[in-house]
Amino acid sequence: MQVARTIDAVRRCVAAARGAGKCVGLVPTMGALHVGHVSLIDAAVAHCDFVVVSIFVNPTQFGPNEDLAKYPRPFEKDVALCEESGADVVFAPSPEEMYGGGGVTWVTVEKLTAPLCGRSRPTHFRGVTTVCTKLFNIVGPDVAFFGQKDAQQAIVIKRMVADLNMPLEIVVCPTVREADGLAVSSRNRYLSERERRDATALYRSLETCREMIEGGAKDAGEIRAAMVAVLEEVPALAIEYVSLVDAETLEEAEQVAGHVLVAVAARLGPARLIDNIRIQAPALH
Ligand code: PAJ
Repeated sequence: MQVARTIDAVRRCVAAARGAGKCVGLVPTMGALHVGHVSLIDAAVAHCDFVVVSIFVNPTQFGPNEDLAKYPRPFEKDVALCEESGADVVFAPSPEEMYGGGGVTWVTVEKLTAPLCGRSRPTHFRGVTTVCTKLFNIVGPDVAFFGQKDAQQAIVIKRMVADLNMPLEIVVCPTVREADGLAVSSRNRYLSERERRDATALYRSLETCREMIEGGAKDAGEIRAAMVAVLEEVPALAIEYVSLVDAETLEEAEQVAGHVLVAVAARLGPARLIDNIRIQAPALH
């Protein structure tokens, strides 16, 4: 496995693979890799002949008061994990390599970036879509892999690729969870032991929702109230949102029908946690 630090170096690696007729997969990450990231690398290795994992803590997607400076960067460990998982190249550029020209160009996706996480992180998705466009242009993958864990991000990226006719396929992989349901996240390491236990409330609220819908509940307000009640059992949790939205348009649902994204976000001590599930509910008659 090679580690490419520059755009030229990664382009050379990919050009050689393409020349050999290989299908190229890209797994964009910010490092601090865990089993969730590894599941994406596994999917890429299964789907593609040549796998690039990018490791870049992208400054443009962090807000002024967010955790950019303290975001974990265990680089050697990450590289070893990529190698073990069967990646062919790690692309790990410096911020200067990615943004050294002092870019004035942004890629923005409207509407889909306004609700949910967009409300508290107004510039976040613009940073994500811009860096992903750059990564797609630099690497030129046939397929890029994203996690359902960041549902809104995956929906925004899919829409950007469709709207701008980018020549690649986006594959969204299921959320990897701990045994107690907590979605695996780099930010879970910010939690104390107590907070780590409290954090399971997010998943429990989503399970409550699933059970209610399976039991025939349709009123989004009623389901939402039951989810909030589960979250409020943990006084340390500060709820940011609890939303039932159309899984494509992200418009708030009043009656649950069709493909629904149920998403929650909350602050717990030093961490901001998000989680979601997708549910296929019966159509309304
Ligand atoms: P990062 O948070 O490192 O996540 C990289 C990818 O791993 C994302 O597609 C994310 O959804 C996926 N992922 C994280 N936790 C997961 C889990 N528990 N199960 C399955 N997949 C999981 O998301 C980003 O980085 C950045 O925004 C990025 C796309 C790299 C752009 O900078």
